[in-house]
Amino acid sequence: KKIWVLHGVNLNMFGRRDPAQYGILTLAEIDARVSDLASELGCAVECYQTNHEGEMVEKIHRAHTENTDAVVINAGAWTHYSYAIADALAILTVPVIEVHMSHVHAREKFRHHSVIAPLARGQITGFGVNSYLLGLRAAWDLIGDAES
Ligand code: DQA
Repeated sequence: KKIWVLHGVNLNMFGRRDPAQYGILTLAEIDARVSDLASELGCAVECYQTNHEGEMVEKIHRAHTENTDAVVINAGAWTHYSYAIADALAILTVPVIEVHMSHVHAREKFRHHSVIAPLARGQITGFGVNSYLLGLRAAWDLIGDAES
């Protein structure tokens, strides 16, 4: 079984960016924790980041041909307005889990709305790196029982 963890725009700046909201871990450190948990669970994981919306759309399209079983996505600011990312996610048949490091509903109003939430099985927001780890566990729970 394979889970993709996708990071959107500006998320390569974790560690440097507004530590009060996002903590001090770098994206590489977050990905390392994600990989550790994946090994513990016994699933394969691929982490991917891009700042380019079209590249993210094409990556999501590849989920159809590259046999991923679930997608955990932090779409960054695209969460709030990208119908292109939402449309790409809507084509997927595998479960999608939306995650955010910060507690988006406790922040500025524009962060309260997610255009990808309706396509996701659920949303995990506000737990820092644990949002990713909980997202991975949620994905694994949804797919783990089936034959690999
Ligand atoms: C974020 C929250 C978004 O509102 C913001 O634009 C981000 C990061 C988070 O992980 O908390 O870039 O998705």
